[in-house]
Amino acid sequence: MSVTQRPWWKDGVVYQIYPASFKDSNGDGIGDLNGIISELDYIRSIGVDVVWICPMYDSPQVDMGYDIRDYEDVYAPYGTVQDMERLIAETHSRGMKIILDLVINHTSDQHKWFLESRSAKDNPKRDWYIWRPARYVNGERKPPNNWVSNFTGSVWEWDEHTQEYYLHLFCPEQPDLNWENAETRQAIYKSAMEFWLERGVDGFRVDTVNMYSKGEMLDAPVTDPGSEWQFAGFQYCNGPRMKEFLAEMNQVLEKYDAMTVGECPNTPDMKRVLEYVSAKEKQLDMVFQFDVVDVGQGPYKFQTTPKNWTLPHLKRAIARTQHLIRTPSDGWTTVFLENHDQARSITRFTSDAPEHRVAGGKMLALLMAALSGTLFIYQGQEIGLVNFPETWDMSEYKDVDSSNYYKMVGARTGGDEEKLAEAKRALQHLARDHARVPMSWSTAPHNGFSPPDSTAMPWMRPLDDAATCNVAQQQSDKSSVLAFWKRILQVRKAHNDLLVHGQYDDLDVEDPEIFVFSKTWMGKRALCVCNFTDRAKTLEVPEQVRGEKMELLVSSVEGGVDGELAAYEGRIYLLA
Ligand code: GLC
Ligand code: CA
Repeated sequence: MSVTQRPWWKDGVVYQIYPASFKDSNGDGIGDLNGIISELDYIRSIGVDVVWICPMYDSPQVDMGYDIRDYEDVYAPYGTVQDMERLIAETHSRGMKIILDLVINHTSDQHKWFLESRSAKDNPKRDWYIWRPARYVNGERKPPNNWVSNFTGSVWEWDEHTQEYYLHLFCPEQPDLNWENAETRQAIYKSAMEFWLERGVDGFRVDTVNMYSKGEMLDAPVTDPGSEWQFAGFQYCNGPRMKEFLAEMNQVLEKYDAMTVGECPNTPDMKRVLEYVSAKEKQLDMVFQFDVVDVGQGPYKFQTTPKNWTLPHLKRAIARTQHLIRTPSDGWTTVFLENHDQARSITRFTSDAPEHRVAGGKMLALLMAALSGTLFIYQGQEIGLVNFPETWDMSEYKDVDSSNYYKMVGARTGGDEEKLAEAKRALQHLARDHARVPMSWSTAPHNGFSPPDSTAMPWMRPLDDAATCNVAQQQSDKSSVLAFWKRILQVRKAHNDLLVHGQYDDLDVEDPEIFVFSKTWMGKRALCVCNFTDRAKTLEVPEQVRGEKMELLVSSVEGGVDGELAAYEGRIYLLA
């Protein structure tokens, strides 16, 4: 593709905002749209081009807004549709684009479509959701199949009123829409997509996009013998009608030239991923694969111990995502280490010890900036926020995913204290809650998240370490993680052929301590090298580039030493 034909979303850097925790403008302890508007200049100053707003729709908030009651309204504590219109206009007036979360695999059980659907078997909207009769085993009522939900327990909920089960791949309060019904699909496009496209949004992050077509819904193989409910992600993801549904959706998106990035869990088959992101297939512009963020997670993600991974695992995962754009592919890829469903990357992939966290944050920024694809940054990542500590009590974990897991471990072990302590250790490392705490803006009360005179407490406990890590301080500190993000994003833009579009080649997959790879674009070449240890290491020039002239483009450490990498130092060299 010639350089002039590149669509805007390829070189764009996206900044993800979690509305509840970004900025509270009115002191009720909950972030809001006015808070976001007040920080758009800050966001712009980082050097990002696109903002992604997590669900701000009207919702009972069982799953933090991923349970939508009304697509065409805003959750009242966040603001109004008029505030959204202002946010869209203010974002555009700063030269940035704005994308929303599109959550259309399921709605809230309070959505008027579901209220109708569950009201009677002969209701015209009955078929808008997925209803099935019970199975009877030895006279006992059982759900239609053995699938486990993403948040533990069966995916089926019994409805007393109409004596059938409905499907929910997530919480019982998140019934799955029936995409097999053409009328339902049209209603979804109109309400969830066109309503906002007409108001000027530039695209969508498409939640759980590969789950719309569920196939035959047969029993899943038993992989967890201790449970009645079994993992079925490979069955309900990437079903037979996905291609058709996405083609239909694209007829709407095309009219607005809207971009899409689809969330694509449970898809290890790269050929399948390539189909989604191939330009000529016109399914999705790009996807979030789970390869990288799943590194170190257990079979059920929290069934593991902290840092249960090696650098070769991480390299292989990154290679899989990078190879999506390798010639002759006409596809595109993404770069991300964090989002609202992931713990903090410094804690997971480097070290959050006080003496290393800044170096770790800068090195990961450099690594990400050197990878090809659209780059996504999650709020707080740009200042190097880390997980909240072990000393915080279980009551500080607010996410259903965390609390359901902890409860399940309790129930399955008869409240075994050691097992519960193990579960909490895993949550301290991997829970989604770590990304959802209020932003640390300053050292003011509530870390500057809520106004100083507000009496309501923030909805989640603010971090204890705002004195060492906050936006205000880092804005005036040239050696901060924030200052480095600004710099490295400029470097990425200045060398976008190589860094955003170049071919990725890992130069030593097995090295457990050093990550070294090259980027190539039309005869130009760069070398990126990162020291994933907390010790200085000799800089070994890989044999593939030996003899070439190396010009240091950028290092994540000031005053670096020739021939030696400091602890958690990353560098990019131009080769000639
Ligand atoms: C996606 C979202 C996650 C949510 C789930 C159900 O994975 O990112 O936060 O819980 O979908 O909508
Ligand atoms: Ca508020």
